[in-house]
Amino acid sequence: MKKLPLFSVAIIFAIFITSCNNSTNNQTSTTEKMETKAGVTKAAWGTTDGKEVFLFTLTNAKGVQVKISNYGATITSWVSPDKNNKPSSIVLGFDSLSGYLAKPPYFGAVVGRYGNRIAKGKFKIDKTEYTLATNNGPNALHGGLKGFDKQVWDATPASDSTASVELSYLSKDGEEGYPGNLKVTVRYTLTDDNELKIEYSASTDKATVLNVTNHSYFNLTGDVNNSILDHTLMIDADNYTPVDTTLIPTGEIKSVKGTPFDFTKAKKIGQEIGAVSGGYDHNFVLNKKDSSLSKIVELKDSISGRTLEVFTTQPGVQFYTGNFLDGTIFTSAGKKINQHAAMCLETQHFPDSPNEPKFPTTLLLPGQQFHSETVYKLSVK
Ligand code: GLA
Repeated sequence: MKKLPLFSVAIIFAIFITSCNNSTNNQTSTTEKMETKAGVTKAAWGTTDGKEVFLFTLTNAKGVQVKISNYGATITSWVSPDKNNKPSSIVLGFDSLSGYLAKPPYFGAVVGRYGNRIAKGKFKIDKTEYTLATNNGPNALHGGLKGFDKQVWDATPASDSTASVELSYLSKDGEEGYPGNLKVTVRYTLTDDNELKIEYSASTDKATVLNVTNHSYFNLTGDVNNSILDHTLMIDADNYTPVDTTLIPTGEIKSVKGTPFDFTKAKKIGQEIGAVSGGYDHNFVLNKKDSSLSKIVELKDSISGRTLEVFTTQPGVQFYTGNFLDGTIFTSAGKKINQHAAMCLETQHFPDSPNEPKFPTTLLLPGQQFHSETVYKLSVK
């Protein structure tokens, strides 16, 4: 890329500042002052689809920082110290928007309207059949060709003293084949206890299906050169949903006992992965009995001394060991992202629920207010 002379950079910067000033009023500038105090800063991060993209930095009292972009409501980094006080990011992400426009496999993004798979891209509500793009073999995956992860969301940083940003998106009736105008909001909050709280809410004007989650890839060592197969994992799930060869649940709820899917007692991820064709990419049926916020996962890494606990109101979690990462994507620092360089814990409803009447429903009706919450809590010893 050609380098711009300094004065052009200055002009572009001046235009940006002017356009910000033009589009703000006194009330907004007060909010901007408060943003800094509240532990949220906002920086321009480029444009796409004719819309401005921003990068928000949430900073807590301990100096831990989480960066969020309104492109895909994406977590781009979560920088915290390891046991030797050395800071590094525990999630995969890029330093610039271009990394995301190159369509990485959902790094840190919010996926929807229906995260995970819908068999053959078809489902019915009452007697009406809806057809989605089949973007994953014969099935629909993560909301379609241009799901929530590739949309520019509206963003409102907190106006009180929390390190928080709220993102919202209107998914129009018929977008990606889904019925109903769906208004969806995601609020990220970083607490002083190093918890990243994610609250989702949504409402619709026509019956629709909904399964929103965050698709962060974790590597607690903070270095993709270390595989996550040495992390130790506990999942509080006595059952999982077995899948066919296209990763669609067979409908069975199967006991994990005596199988490589038994993580009820903590074990190394790599311990039995060899016996799971393709690696783990499965939905676990959580033991929690209701929709209260409960602890479901504990992930530990001895290299960094970091522990990640996951709490959710959702009934399932997709445990995915980065099986399709194949060394063709590089971090912003130029490191190759190989298979098992990171893993996902996508709290969710079960895959293909719209076609499985026995699974908890993902139907959202007009007049209903959807709400779910997931908390990732990081600690170090
Ligand atoms: C999810 C799916 C995986 C894969 C990744 C993205 O976790 O379950 O099969 O598609 O997203 O690559």
